[in-house]
Amino acid sequence: MSGGTKLWGGRFQKPTHELVDQLNASLPFDRRLARHDILGSLAHVTMLARQGIVPLEDARAIARGLRAILQEIQEERFEFRLADEDIHLSVERRLRELIGAAAGRLHTARSRNDQVALDFRLWMREAILEVGEGIVETGRALLDLANEHCDVVLPGYTHLQRAQPLLLAHHLHAYVAMLARDLARLQELYRRVNRSPLGSGALAGVPYPIDRAFVAELLAMDGILENSIDAVSDRDFALEFLADLAILMAHLSRLAEELVLWSSSEFGFIEFDDAFATGSSIMPQKKNPDVAELLRGKSGRVFGHLIGLLTVVKGLPLAYNKDLQEDKEGVFDALDTVALLLRVLPPMLRTLRIDRERMHTAAEQGFTLATDVADALVRAGVPFREAHEAVGRLVAYCIAEGKTFGELAADELARFHPRLAEVVFPRTVWDAVRAREHPGGTGPEHVARALEASRSELERTAGWLQQERQRIDKAFARLLSEEFP
Ligand code: ARG
Repeated sequence: MSGGTKLWGGRFQKPTHELVDQLNASLPFDRRLARHDILGSLAHVTMLARQGIVPLEDARAIARGLRAILQEIQEERFEFRLADEDIHLSVERRLRELIGAAAGRLHTARSRNDQVALDFRLWMREAILEVGEGIVETGRALLDLANEHCDVVLPGYTHLQRAQPLLLAHHLHAYVAMLARDLARLQELYRRVNRSPLGSGALAGVPYPIDRAFVAELLAMDGILENSIDAVSDRDFALEFLADLAILMAHLSRLAEELVLWSSSEFGFIEFDDAFATGSSIMPQKKNPDVAELLRGKSGRVFGHLIGLLTVVKGLPLAYNKDLQEDKEGVFDALDTVALLLRVLPPMLRTLRIDRERMHTAAEQGFTLATDVADALVRAGVPFREAHEAVGRLVAYCIAEGKTFGELAADELARFHPRLAEVVFPRTVWDAVRAREHPGGTGPEHVARALEASRSELERTAGWLQQERQRIDKAFARLLSEEFP
């Protein structure tokens, strides 16, 4: 059975076996890089012409052909043939069909090794912006929810046992703080991704008077990668992207887990809008938090992709090895997964119904003021450990008698510590919350300031994301205009 026709086939007497084509081909997934492959080629051929490496006439024909191919792809008229092996050879094959022999000059001073590394980085740059925009939207939704419910108290938990009263806004702000770090990580990664490997050739560089910086500039990149071997063989940028998404998913998964718990009848703190919940095929009464569960469950595949790629990379000798072709599918899937979730999450958060009474009542139960009672004793001069012990016994007594702190008479209190009857201790959950007015605490004034600060930070990052998008769009529009080469 005959398989592909090798474009560079001089060395071979036979075409590849068709099963080898199937195994070897990355086209089914790397066709996703088509646009960036073409833009990279436009920048490359512009540089080749400017440096006199390729005649201007040929470079112009190549550029015209590449633009036509992009048009075909965008209008879904382009024929992706498995026998082409990958997106790079696919585009080159079509270019030859369109412009003839001059097409053969495009791959001068370039290898697919530096080409694919460039394409992947160009693609990832925009993927980072997309995730960033999704995080910003999610952060805005959380901040709005917090601002709308700044007077709601709920029990905070440790070990999933009621611990101390918290402002709901403070609790939600914790997730905003996590998302802000997720954004910062991606922003930092962006700088490392946005460097051009082109000009590294197969691994050693190329014997032509190339101008690597010019190519990087045409593509709105922040410079070049310094070592040709490193540039074609490392995939740490993809690993970092997956790691950043994995951490993000871990955060979102924790939020999702809380939403699942809170929406149960046992908690009854929130209710999902009907548009963000599903029913049961057998139990008519059910309203299931599937969206939140998928948010939690899909973290598994993102973590898996990180481990998968680490495993692919870890045993490879320098420089390029075909194993590296395995770098793309996991990354694509991770982006698709995260991007969709980040689109669903904001409207789901914005339509949540919060049961403030249930939250408040729960915050009052479970002796959530016990620490504050101990702290009141401390303020009266009792060492904290002694106070802790006394209040512990007091709680055990209340549980046995079925009483709350507020229901205890002075003589009952005095039995547990002589100072207990005299000290003023917080009677309401609001007292406990208001007592914590310091940076990082759940005091309402501090929380309001923290929400504001986070909002400004988020909007600053949103501005940066927009600015980078515009910078890329502008560079790409130039490359696609008739201006070059
Ligand atoms: N499809 C390949 C990949 O994704 C492109 C690079 C191929 N390079 C090579 N030397 N065979 O990695």
